[in-house]
Parts: sequence; structure tokens; C-alpha cells
Amino acid sequence: MSASRTHRIAPSLLSADFARLGEEVKNVVAAGADWIHFDVMDNHYVPNLTFGPMVCEALRKHAVKADGTRVPIDVHLMVQPVDALAAAFAKAGADVVSFHPDASTHVDRSLQAIRDAGCQAGLVFNPAASLDVLEWVIDKVDLVLLMSVNPGFGGQSFIPSTLKKLEKVRRLIDATGRDIRLEVDGGIKTDNIRAAADAGADTFVAGSAIFGQPDYRAVIGAMRERLAA
Ligand code: DX5
Ligand code: ZN
Repeated sequence: MSASRTHRIAPSLLSADFARLGEEVKNVVAAGADWIHFDVMDNHYVPNLTFGPMVCEALRKHAVKADGTRVPIDVHLMVQPVDALAAAFAKAGADVVSFHPDASTHVDRSLQAIRDAGCQAGLVFNPAASLDVLEWVIDKVDLVLLMSVNPGFGGQSFIPSTLKKLEKVRRLIDATGRDIRLEVDGGIKTDNIRAAADAGADTFVAGSAIFGQPDYRAVIGAMRERLAA
């Protein structure tokens, strides 16, 4: 079950203090973040606007642990079109670049371009989105991200049907025998992270649950305890 997989906790900067982003990245890395989740919104694919590749590049140098290990930057593109920004984020030092298949005209080409640029490539599925494209491109995917809220805002409630969808994607991934991460994003808190893990998720985005509390280390620690229990 969940205990045999390496779990990653990926705090989403969407709920960080935008006036102190560098410091927020440093603090959440010191608090035990495994990845930094970077939500890119374009006021077109989603009704909100956040930050772009220049901000990613500026923050990358802060995503380093005390022992010098880099913490991967996990870029979640909520933009349309995809390809030019995906390339710009690869250049800005992103480690993982994920996009919504319905935002790209040529999904296979976008995945290939992200990998050719030296990043891991991910596909993101909205709560009501079908998983059909996975059948044809799963060999080019390093990560599947299931949205457990509708994209665009932090602080929304977890949509329970995501658990069934996680189970389904976990079966698809296991059938490939490849090392593909299964990430869940939206409404993840200490009290539901274990259910998401049991359904097959191994990577957990949490924005408001972490940045909404004064002690990031305590929240991340409590999440890890639930995952290990
Ligand atoms: C929503 C974003 C999420 C968001 C999650 O569009 O993709 O990453 O930051 O925020 P919480 O954890 O507060 O639901
Ligand atoms: Zn996200």
C-alpha cells in the first residue's frame, strides 16, 4: 500500500506571502518540503494570474537544503497555449513541467518538447476530465497530476471523487512498470492526506494547509506522521 512508496510533500507557493517569496521558499525548504510546487495561471485557461518564468528563475536559488541538495521545482502550468511557456520554464530551471492536455493542441508534441528540454513531463487532469489521452502517451509521461479541486484558486475543498480516480490512475501506472509519480493537488490537509495515499497518490501538493499556519515544519511533520502511520 502507500507505505511502500516514497512520499513527497510539495508545498504550493500560491498560498505563500507574495511579498516575501524568496524567504517563504527558504523557510518551507528548511521545514522539510520535498518539492516546491509552482502554480502558473494566465487569466485565460483559469480565471487568475500568478507568476512566470522570471520569478521561477529568481526563486530557484533559494530552493536548496542546508546540506546543499537542490529541491526540485514542480511547475504546474494552467496556461493556454502551452509550448512557449513550457520552454521558458525549462530554461528558467524547472525540474518538472506539467500541463493540462485540454490546453495543448498537440499533447504528444508538448510532452516530447518538455523532455527534450531536459525536464520531467507531467499531464494534469481536472476533476471532470477524462483520462483517455493517457492510453496513448503514458510512455512519455513522468508524472500524472490529478486535480482534486477545480484549478485557479487555493483554499478550496477536496473533491471526494478524486479518490476513485487516483485508484484508476495507480492501476494504469503500475501496469506500465515505469517510475511515474502520481500527484494530487487541491484541498490536501493533514486529515485527508492518508486517504489520498491509500488511493495511490505518492506526491501531495498542499498550499493553504501549510502556508496558512505559522509553523510549516509542524504541518509537514504531521502530514508525514499520517502517511507513515
Ligand atoms: C489550484 C492549484 C493548487 C493550489 C492548492 O489551482 O493548482 O496547487 O495551490 O491549494 P490548496 O492546497 O490550498 O487547495
Ligand atoms: Zn497546482
